[in-house]
Amino acid sequence: MDYTNLIEKAMEVNSNAYTPYYKFRVGASVLTKSGEIFTGCNVENITPAPCCCAEQVAVTNAVKSGHKDIVAVAVYGDGLDYCYPCGSCRQLLVEFNPQMDVVVAKSTTDYKIYKASELLPYFFSPKSLKE
Ligand code: THU
Repeated sequence: MDYTNLIEKAMEVNSNAYTPYYKFRVGASVLTKSGEIFTGCNVENITPAPCCCAEQVAVTNAVKSGHKDIVAVAVYGDGLDYCYPCGSCRQLLVEFNPQMDVVVAKSTTDYKIYKASELLPYFFSPKSLKE
């Protein structure tokens, strides 16, 4: 699978991030089964609760447009190292598709790909709940 376009979209949206506190921009883009791409950037706040990660914004953007069938996500941070999804974002991603590809990118040519479930083994699932 060629994720060049997906990574490019994450890199583009990264520059829209609102990061007055951590001063660390993140861009994320999700690919749906039907081939559409939805993007998100981190949106910080002076209090922690409303602070949104880029992955959260991208997934929310897809879902509000009627797409829950996410097959891949690309994450691009503007630091020196690969930007791995935080713990909360890993939980968010596995709920939509444990088999989704998580593309952690430094550039369009320097990236690593994991399955979402690989990044969060033994995750809590809606299937654990009683009917
Ligand atoms: N951040 C993300 O957007 N995604 C992650 O998975 C890790 C962290 C953001 C949140 C905050 O604005 C900044 O990076 C530092 O934590």
